[in-house]
Amino acid sequence: MKILNFGSLGIDYVFSVEHFVRPGETLLAKERQIYCGGKGLNQSIALAKAGAMVFQAGAIGSDGEFLLDTLRSCGVNVDLVRCLEEVGTQNALIQVNGEGQNCILLYGGANQALTQEMVDSAFAGFEKGDYLVLQNEVNLADQMIRAGHQKGMRVILNPSPLNEAIDRLPLELVDMFILNEVEGEGLSHTADKERMIFALRERFPRAAIVLTLGGDGSVYLEAGQSEPVYQRAYRVKAVDTTAAGDTFTGYLVAGLARGLAPAAAMERASAAAAISVTRKGAAPSIPNEEEVSAFLQRIGAETIHDESQEKFH
Ligand code: RIB
Repeated sequence: MKILNFGSLGIDYVFSVEHFVRPGETLLAKERQIYCGGKGLNQSIALAKAGAMVFQAGAIGSDGEFLLDTLRSCGVNVDLVRCLEEVGTQNALIQVNGEGQNCILLYGGANQALTQEMVDSAFAGFEKGDYLVLQNEVNLADQMIRAGHQKGMRVILNPSPLNEAIDRLPLELVDMFILNEVEGEGLSHTADKERMIFALRERFPRAAIVLTLGGDGSVYLEAGQSEPVYQRAYRVKAVDTTAAGDTFTGYLVAGLARGLAPAAAMERASAAAAISVTRKGAAPSIPNEEEVSAFLQRIGAETIHDESQEKFH
């Protein structure tokens, strides 16, 4: 079984700041780093590090060749990534403050210049039962959802970043949503964390829903079932939260794809995301399988009975 991740690839310019720049202010950053990023690329790396056979599709400009080297070095197949001449690679201008929180300004570049022909040709090598992983950082995501559904692929959408483009997607064709509480609120129209997963279920009855709730952990509700699976969040000292959601998504999907039960896949995804926030950068912060296993062993979390279960019942 193969995983097609049709998503964004980008260059992250990360500025370490005392506080986020205010309107009219000029601020001197403490440090600037340049990393590989883009939600698609980050998720492909997490998928590959978690052991999945992953094919990245998408586009870069001629300034983004090094992104492909990084993907290849992690074991991601990049044959379906086009290099465009007329437009640059996505750039993200990321401020990270002392608490490890970020704010991101995006120039979409090549990620917003995908064509129908690129979409059609990317799907040629995939079949029923393969997985399609998507985010909301490229144009033509609507066509990708339709193409994946038509092929009988399992369509998994991480609706991030949430913006008005989401409403134009055929969300009823999605088989699994992986989303955080901001995205959950936007799609469910409730801010009540305990109700949110059930409100999402009402709106998308045929989809599995996976909701991440920051310090409150994450919840998984399988399609057709009424009992959610809960996973607590692991407490770590956050240095940079960029790509924590991408790491969670990649590890979760890879785990499910190799047949792990949702609870086990969530445990590994949650551990991987926790490790990623203790490190700087997006793609470089994503741990490998051995690191995730060592983390879980260290905290004695192989069998989970956590407080978050009680919180939600
Ligand atoms: O999810 C994190 C990513 O979002 C960053 O790597 C940045 O490129 C933005 O796309």
